Amino acid sequence: MAKKVLITGASKGIGESMAREFARRGWNLLLVARSTDILEKLKKELEQQYSISVGIQTCDLTDVSERNILCEWVKNQGALDALVNNAGFGSTGAFKDLPLDRELRQVELNVATVVSLTHQLLPLLCEQRGYIMNIASTAGFQPGPYMAVYYATKAFVLHFSEALSVELAAQGVSVTAHCPGATESEFAKVAGNDKTVLFSKMNHVMSRDVVAKHAVDSMLARKAVAISGWRNWLLAFTVRLNPRWMVRQLAGWINQPGKWS
Ligand SMILES: NC(=O)c1ccc[n+]([C@@H]2O[C@H](COP(=O)([O-])OP(=O)(O)OC[C@H]3O[C@@H](n4cnc5c(N)ncnc54)[C@H](OP(=O)(O)O)[C@@H]3O)[C@@H](O)[C@H]2O)c1
Repeated sequence: MAKKVLITGASKGIGESMAREFARRGWNLLLVARSTDILEKLKKELEQQYSISVGIQTCDLTDVSERNILCEWVKNQGALDALVNNAGFGSTGAFKDLPLDRELRQVELNVATVVSLTHQLLPLLCEQRGYIMNIASTAGFQPGPYMAVYYATKAFVLHFSEALSVELAAQGVSVTAHCPGATESEFAKVAGNDKTVLFSKMNHVMSRDVVAKHAVDSMLARKAVAISGWRNWLLAFTVRLNPRWMVRQLAGWINQPGKWS
């Protein structure tokens, strides 16, 4: 029987590319995001092209009650083989100047949603000896001045995933922290860091399809941590070799708004 995956943030960017990648491999899909029209279009296209079944659910994952309704809906769909916690966003600027409610929504989506969905859907995943993949980031390997909350949320995702990968090994459930670096998507526009060196011509911005394929391959290989692209791997590795004062100053230099426009 075909396997089934739940993907959050599947309407755009890396999540949409992962939906296409799983579909190509014959997986049935449960897709979640706020944009109903985009999800409906994607469902129609993928069902026709790959003869799979695609369930869609409109949900603002920062809303606790909507999130709980989503989990009940997933449980009513029967067996679940994989959970991909992908939805997330960032914000750029000096922490003192950023609106608090947006920073808190970021924590709610990037952190609380990952914890909540993982906890609520874990019994289903244990039954299938399945997979969890959490989309972290290379941001998770160091502190990030001018994107302080975002980097900290991704450090949480990375460490949470690695810890669970040890805890859940006995249940046969693998947990993969997938860490993209700068990738083409709506992310930079939403985060307001499209003018930083990270997304400038000075850096190599990866294709979302390449990142998505790597993510799915890594999840199926049951890797605990996977970093997209050798440049990003090198970056994450050198963080370990350099003094922390240097690493945080460099990250601040890279993220500083207006510096590269
Ligand atoms: N792009 C990069 O450079 C990069 C690098 C490292 C890590 N990442 C991580 O990769 C993941 C995917 O990001 P992306 O680059 O693909 O960004 P994106 O193009 O902005 O896509 C974000 C997705 O999340 C959904 N989403 C946002 N807020 C939501 C909410 N409150 N409830 C439900 N869904 C929500 C969006 O759909 P709707 O708007 O329809 O809700 C969209 O499908 C994120 O976790 C991000 O932190 C990205």
